[in-house]
Amino acid sequence: MMRGKHIVIGVTGGIAAYKSVYLVRLLQEAGADVRVIMTAAATRFVGTETFAALTRHDVAVDIFPKSGDEISRNWTRHIQWGEWADLLVVAPCTANTLGRIVHGITDDMLTATILAARCPVLLCPTMDGEMYKAPSTRANLQKAADFGFHLMAPGAGYLASGLEGPGRLPEPVEIRDKIVELLETGVKPSRSSADTDKPANDNQDSMVGGSEDSPAGETKDNTVGGILNSAASDSGTGPLLNRKVLVTAGATREYLDPVRFLSNPSTGKMGCAMAQAAHDMGATVILLHAAAVDLSRLSASIDTLTFESAEDLFEKVKKHSGADVVIMTAAVSDFRPASRSEHKVKKEEAPDSLTLERTPDILQWLGKNRRAGQVLIGFAMETQNLEERAREKLLKKNADWIVANNLREEDAGFAVDTNRILLIGPETSHHVEGSKKSVAEAVLRAVFAR
Ligand code: C5P
Repeated sequence: MMRGKHIVIGVTGGIAAYKSVYLVRLLQEAGADVRVIMTAAATRFVGTETFAALTRHDVAVDIFPKSGDEISRNWTRHIQWGEWADLLVVAPCTANTLGRIVHGITDDMLTATILAARCPVLLCPTMDGEMYKAPSTRANLQKAADFGFHLMAPGAGYLASGLEGPGRLPEPVEIRDKIVELLETGVKPSRSSADTDKPANDNQDSMVGGSEDSPAGETKDNTVGGILNSAASDSGTGPLLNRKVLVTAGATREYLDPVRFLSNPSTGKMGCAMAQAAHDMGATVILLHAAAVDLSRLSASIDTLTFESAEDLFEKVKKHSGADVVIMTAAVSDFRPASRSEHKVKKEEAPDSLTLERTPDILQWLGKNRRAGQVLIGFAMETQNLEERAREKLLKKNADWIVANNLREEDAGFAVDTNRILLIGPETSHHVEGSKKSVAEAVLRAVFAR
């Protein structure tokens, strides 16, 4: 998994810095190419030579290297290292470095590289219990989550101060496992601002009428991990505050061989609009999306994970099926080639016909396996008898709501930025039209009004 991956480990000035030595070894054993950046304070705990000998790379501390020659050659090292990294991990991350990172202070190599990096960044906050619980640290952790940094909750137990409490650096194997998870899930890059890249407000308001009761709320997870994980949504307000919402977006691909697949024209725009609207209503959102979906206008604190085939999406949906709300916007292929060739099929050897088989119906599975209080929203693309077909789907799939699009309308359906939908609930239906963003907001308002 890690073979050939470039990982930069940032080490800051805490007693747990010695554990970073083991972490570097574990990552190397797994095949990663590791570089280390230390803060000046970290060098009081572990020598730069230790990391240089292990990684066989220079260990960076200052932005500006000492000798005149090197300065002219090397002063943009923070940019180069930031580009080189597939993942940047700060372990241990002191309160001071956390504060500098979230406030954009780049007074050393580590903080400058993090600001320059395009890859995901994992922070492992490590400090004494009282420092960890201090309001400034809480606010900085919140900011870090909002900015899209990945956070690993510290462990509780004996601390170097002699006190006990939260603040311990997780064991190197745990951090390694988290790194594997982040590399495997193809997490999107952390970004430096959650809000500046939100879609601009357009003036195309949607029209919708009617309302429904929202399902019973869940209590908030108040564990240390829970606080970190839900930090992004803590700042929001709205009917979905502290609710977990799973959204799927885009087209599945069913490969015949490594270069050919069956798919459809879905771009994932409607799914992204649903994810953003749920986030803006206070939800903690996970978006499962096709690789081609454009995520550049989404808030950084929406967690994203790619899928390829219907089967792959099914596995990932099952993993997150405990969500309070599931919104199946993805255009899932209903069938796939019965077999997939490992190698590209030569033209001369192509079969005259293709044998197809059914893919799992994910929404139907969710409808059968739903937990009490969960809200299920499906989508339907129809070319005729929109309402009738959507109502049938509502029953067949045991969903709460179906958002039906008519594929025949030019300003609705695949790829365009606008939509015209019929939202169908068990007893009500609403016509909504406007930008996909405003339609998404209207749908959620109708479903979760009050
Ligand atoms: O049956 P139909 O494909 O029209 O249903 C559309 C809805 O069902 C969408 O919400 C889509 O995401 C979901 N779906 C699914 N699994 C499939 C096909 C569709 O979850 N195999």
